[in-house]
Amino acid sequence: MKRLYETILTEGIVINDNVLKVDSFLNHAINPQLMKEIGEEFAERFSGEPITKVLTLESSGIAPALMTSLVIGCELIFARKRQSLTLVDNLISTTVDSYTKKQKNTISISGDLIKPDDTVLIIDDFLANGQAAKGLIDIAQQAGTSVVGIGIVIEKSFQPGRSELENQGIRVESLARIASLTNKQVQFVEKTRL
Ligand code: G4P
Repeated sequence: MKRLYETILTEGIVINDNVLKVDSFLNHAINPQLMKEIGEEFAERFSGEPITKVLTLESSGIAPALMTSLVIGCELIFARKRQSLTLVDNLISTTVDSYTKKQKNTISISGDLIKPDDTVLIIDDFLANGQAAKGLIDIAQQAGTSVVGIGIVIEKSFQPGRSELENQGIRVESLARIASLTNKQVQFVEKTRL
């Protein structure tokens, strides 16, 4: 995705060897045109799959997941990280360990919104250690659904998330794959899909 690579290079700020700040288009401000193209790209990559639900995790997964579900023409569900006053019955929950933040979060969705005959595509903003993705897979599996794969906007390929998911037999499609953030430089794994 040419525009995504260009936006990462022009607007991304390398905080340190492990962390890329993308608050100007993905994690705080959101670039709607870029999100639209991201949605179209995920829909194209997973075309042919009988997807009935897109599943993501609040908050930064919602924008790319919403555009993907719009293009596919299916519903979007986001797992909540915080307890909700109204989301109390028939909860499906799991625990996600955040290496970055050194904390555990319980994430939940309503079992009323997802059924065993659903076919799920998981979308998230970043793939680092894969904990959020594994939590979403666990939720989809608890609901009895099948998962066609995971779409990631920015993968940090120097961290173990992708290989751990692939070892579980999960298809991972990342729109930008970062090989390294050393020397304050973003190095991509490959640019073959520019
Ligand atoms: P993991 O899910 O792949 O294991 O990631 P990890 O625990 O390391 O990351 C926890 C949070 O930090 C996630 O956001 C994840 O998207 C984000 N994150 C990880 N690496 C980076 C990075 O290099 N840059 C940025 N900008 N974010 C990163 P979150 O807590 O769920 O945040 P949000 O969705 O509420 O915005």
